[in-house]
Amino acid sequence: MCGIFGYTGQRQAQDLVLQGLKHLEYRGYDSSGIAVQNGGSSISIEKTHGKIRNLEELLKTHPIKGTTAIGHTRWATHGMPSRENAHPHADSSSHIAVVHNGIIENFFDLKKTLEGEGVKFRSETDTEVVAHLIGKYYRGNLENAVRRALREIKGTYAIAVLSSAEPDKIVAARWDSPLVLGVGERENYLASDVAALLDHTQRVVYLDNGDVVTITPAGSSINDLNGRPVKRETVKITWNVAQAKKGGYEHYMLKEIFEQPGIVGAILSERLKGQKVRFDELTIKPARLARADKVVIIACGTAYHAGLVAKYFIEELTDLPVWVDTSSEFRYRDPKLDKRTVVITISQSGETADTLAGLREARKKGAATVSVCNVLGSTIARESEGVIYTHAGPEIAVASTKAYTAQLTVLYLLALYFAQLRGTLDAKRTKRLISELLRVPALMQRILDRYKKDRQEWADNAHDFNRRYHEALSKYVESDPQRRKRSPSGFFLYLGRNINYPTALEGALKLKEISYIPAEGYPAGEMKHGPIALIDENPWVICIAPKSRTYDKMISNIQEIRARGGCIIPVVTEGDTEIHRLQPMYLIEIPEIDELFSPLLTIVPLQLLAYSVAREFGEDIDQPRNLAKSVTVE
Ligand code: M6R
Repeated sequence: MCGIFGYTGQRQAQDLVLQGLKHLEYRGYDSSGIAVQNGGSSISIEKTHGKIRNLEELLKTHPIKGTTAIGHTRWATHGMPSRENAHPHADSSSHIAVVHNGIIENFFDLKKTLEGEGVKFRSETDTEVVAHLIGKYYRGNLENAVRRALREIKGTYAIAVLSSAEPDKIVAARWDSPLVLGVGERENYLASDVAALLDHTQRVVYLDNGDVVTITPAGSSINDLNGRPVKRETVKITWNVAQAKKGGYEHYMLKEIFEQPGIVGAILSERLKGQKVRFDELTIKPARLARADKVVIIACGTAYHAGLVAKYFIEELTDLPVWVDTSSEFRYRDPKLDKRTVVITISQSGETADTLAGLREARKKGAATVSVCNVLGSTIARESEGVIYTHAGPEIAVASTKAYTAQLTVLYLLALYFAQLRGTLDAKRTKRLISELLRVPALMQRILDRYKKDRQEWADNAHDFNRRYHEALSKYVESDPQRRKRSPSGFFLYLGRNINYPTALEGALKLKEISYIPAEGYPAGEMKHGPIALIDENPWVICIAPKSRTYDKMISNIQEIRARGGCIIPVVTEGDTEIHRLQPMYLIEIPEIDELFSPLLTIVPLQLLAYSVAREFGEDIDQPRNLAKSVTVE
């Protein structure tokens, strides 16, 4: 989604803002722009369609001098990606410049009124109304004008505003879109997330809904929408610059895949004290959790898949029934929740709009709310009764990898914690489970070491796959146009059963996100109820079949696919000999582990597979088209 970066201080702002915007690139965007207060009483705006390097090029030929500036990366909601629709937007007199993240829901009405008053709009965006409203109410005090304008606005926003008449000052505000204030020495910053601030400061203030902040080089003040001062704590963030850099890896995604054993290990050693799970920071009363009669998990995308896996193990280890919902569905039905329900919201960013809305709904209905978040101080974390941080460090690649395994690890521990509180596991089983869980980081590392060793083979296989894929496409296009209409030409099916069914969903999501190859995850047992109609020699079928109670069933499903000519790529436990009889196209092996924890291992080669294919296809792996890292609008 859109990203905002603002700077006011002693240094030239243009390059600092460009650098800040580059750190926000991962959020997803289609255009970018900057407004600089260039001394005197004017504001210069430059903006352009496409990547930030286009803006950088533009600024090489038209550099703007000035020590206060706001910048923006736009992810289109209202109006096509174009120069005109890129932010910043100015009022009619060009004395006010605004950048915005969010959606102004009543913008049609506001626009009509403003047009009736003679305002000429230059873009199709909802944001432009904000600039005109602030211009309309400006009487020499920017903060008052911003507050006055915001009173008329309905929707979500994080905005940052400059006035040509008030040098060295940025006024910003937020409602349901993230905005963080970075505290420096004789300089201050604003950004959509902390990753963009790490080059400059680790001292930040998370702004709340209704906060209006004014920053100058000398300091900052925060008031509410009525102008009353509010106090917000300055917190020191623990992430550092190195964590937000590629550290020698070709892509952030690969770096983040390789960080997984360390992150899982750290989570386990932080929360496991002997045979006891401890969540010291969990402010929710243990008695409330012990009294619960059901668990509801809500999340989106990859986090939703982590929730689906958790359903299997929470139900196996405790007496609690578990429902899992995508947040966007949950919020528009009438879920039956009460004070005996524990609602777990899972979100890497902690800012996903639908998950946040679901959390608020759950709180309204009196449920106990626990969130599993990665970003410290994020809105979901702050609004939940209890939060468990995954401490996975900044996840920069849009395709989520380390956040997923970190979420799973926390959820495994949460299941053991519930079991502990409710007495559903005996000491012997607890001990066995914990010692198995503790093996995971080393086993993950083994998979990654093998990948490093066989890297060329992975690349060759991806190359070979690329050739077959394009051959398959052209076969249908050139020689058999009629058939092309009836049969899919190249896609992936991911099949899994039981606790690895969500792994199939997550593996397919990874591939489609970054390689744009159609991919579907399916419970293998459902094949005969529909998807088997798609099987001929063309789909590639990833069969997740580690040693498990459903292994034999999985083998039968694979046989049915082979009997119809499908190409199979099984993910099996090391030492599986039976699978060779089925003549896999490629074979992926994982170390042996208790089935319950196998999703922590089976996903790793699938992440690497998606990565290898997208790399072979030459795609923009870390910033796939159309996607945003944190989806802060509905
Ligand atoms: O920040 P969140 O965990 O709430 O984000 C949820 C999804 O948007 C996210 O997992 C998305 O599906 C990723 N691109 C998946 O790789």
